[in-house]
Amino acid sequence: MIVERTVTTGQGTFRVLDAGAGWPVLLIHAFPLSAEMWRPQLEAVPQGWRYVAPDLRGFGRSPAGRRPPTMDDYAADLESVLDALEIETAAIGGLSMGGYVTFALHRRAADRFTSLVLADTKAEADTPEGREGRKRMSELVNARGVGAVADSMLPKLLSERSRSGDVAGVVRELIEANSVTGVDHAIHALMTRPDSSADLAALRLPVLVIVGEDDVITPPADSERMVRAAERSQLVVVPGAGHLSNLEAPAAFSTALANFLTSSL
Ligand code: MLT
Repeated sequence: MIVERTVTTGQGTFRVLDAGAGWPVLLIHAFPLSAEMWRPQLEAVPQGWRYVAPDLRGFGRSPAGRRPPTMDDYAADLESVLDALEIETAAIGGLSMGGYVTFALHRRAADRFTSLVLADTKAEADTPEGREGRKRMSELVNARGVGAVADSMLPKLLSERSRSGDVAGVVRELIEANSVTGVDHAIHALMTRPDSSADLAALRLPVLVIVGEDDVITPPADSERMVRAAERSQLVVVPGAGHLSNLEAPAAFSTALANFLTSSL
C-alpha cells in the first residue's frame, strides 16, 4: 500500500509517497515529473524495504518556493524531509534530475547514504549549448505553459516503442499537473548545476547505474562513463526503454533495483 504524507519542515511543505517497511530507500524524481513516476516501484517494494518518494518543491503537490532553487536547495529540502521522517540513513537515488539532486545531497550529507542509485542521469554539468536550450525551454513554458513543455519533451523522454503505448499519456498527465513556476524554477536549477564528476570518482559506496537502452537524453555512454569513474558501481541497461526507464520497463527496473539493494546490504 502506498501512503501519501504531507511533511512540513523548516524548508517548506512536501508531499511524500511512502510504501513498505524496513531499510529506507529515497527515490528522487525526474524533470518535469513528480513522485508519481515512482508508483510502479512503490507498488513492487520488496519485503524488508521502505521506498520513500517526495515531490521536489514546485512539483506534484509540493508548493514552489519564492525564488528559483539550486540543486543544493532541493538537496537541503530532502535532508529536512529525511529528518522529519526520522530516517537517518538510506539508499538514495534518482532518475535524471533526481540523479543530479542525489549528487548534491551526497555533497551535503554523505553520512546519510548507504548506497546510491543513478538512473538515466550523468555526472557532467550542462554544456553552453545545453544552457541555451534551457533558456529556450524557460521561454516556452512562460509563453505557452506546461503542455508545450510536454509536447517538446515527450519524443525525447520515451523510446519510440513507449511513445505509442499507455505510458505516453501517463507522462503527459504528470507533466501537465505541474505549475509553470515549478517547472521554470527547475530549469534554473538544471542549468546552474555543478559538475559532479569528481564526487563520483571519490565515491566508495555501492552504486547502481541504470539506463534505458534507447535513452537519448542521457544515453548509455553517459552511464558507462559513470561506471568507469565509480569504484564500486554496477551497470544495468534496460532493454527497449528510453529516458524514463522505470516507467517504460517497470518490472525490469524494479527487479534491478531490488537485486542491487539486496546485494549491497
Ligand atoms: C530529467 O529527466 O530530469 C531531465 O531531462 C534532465 C535534463 O534535462 O538534464
